[in-house]
Amino acid sequence: MEAAVQRTKWLGKSWKFLEVTTSTQDEAKKWVQKGAPHGALVVAEEQTRGRGRLGRSWFSPPGKNLYFTVALKLPTSSPPLSTLSLLAGIAVAEALRSHFNAQVFVKWANDVVGCDGRKLAGILVEGFKDCSGTDWALIGIGVNVNLTEDEFPNELREIATSLQILLGKQLERFQVLGTILASLEAWWEDWAEGMLEKVLKAFEALDWLKGKLVRLTLPDGAVFEGVAIGVTEEGHLRLRLSGDLERDFPAGEATVRVRG
Ligand code: BTN
Repeated sequence: MEAAVQRTKWLGKSWKFLEVTTSTQDEAKKWVQKGAPHGALVVAEEQTRGRGRLGRSWFSPPGKNLYFTVALKLPTSSPPLSTLSLLAGIAVAEALRSHFNAQVFVKWANDVVGCDGRKLAGILVEGFKDCSGTDWALIGIGVNVNLTEDEFPNELREIATSLQILLGKQLERFQVLGTILASLEAWWEDWAEGMLEKVLKAFEALDWLKGKLVRLTLPDGAVFEGVAIGVTEEGHLRLRLSGDLERDFPAGEATVRVRG
């Protein structure tokens, strides 16, 4: 762990490492309520109730992957919270590309995927106010690191991947963590200073959905199909629907449709 936080200036300098917890999100929230500083980091070896977006669970076996949450104080005027998962996705993808040469992409709203579209990492952003009224964001990141295909449960085998599968070798997890934290710190500084344009441009360059025919299932179950045009300043997905109608969607699950 010490080595993981040596690459940063302030992010993760206060950290907690837990052998097992329900969710690093819960731990980080409790810690903020007891006075954790801006940039506090919670890492767990295993989560018993790791959670994802839209009420889903996050597969969190011990000793193989990375599960961590950073707690960040929101500046008084910041870009919308919905853009934070874009920022975290870019931070993860750029770190893995530049340090490990992994061919990974970002997928709206909160995924990092391999070039076959399988999910490598998931991001969960939750906002809340502490008792003095300060706004905080919890950025929770799960990265599949040293898992082979048969170590995934059946229901994930076709849709998930790991760095080991992509690169054909095992990686030192805390080295991976260190590179992600350094990248996240730099991207947070830009975002907090209002440089949303830069985040959106970086997202566009690695956007896995862009130009593809997408099926989008909304949280209420409604389904739309259209070509992904990109992501808006609010962090919404823009689709071109039939009849050339463009529409923005704040939330949902996007899957790529094979044409034909
Ligand atoms: C998603 O893909 O829906 C988001 C998954 C986020 C998983 C991470 S693991 C660390 C942190 N703790 C959690 O319970 N969830 C996030």
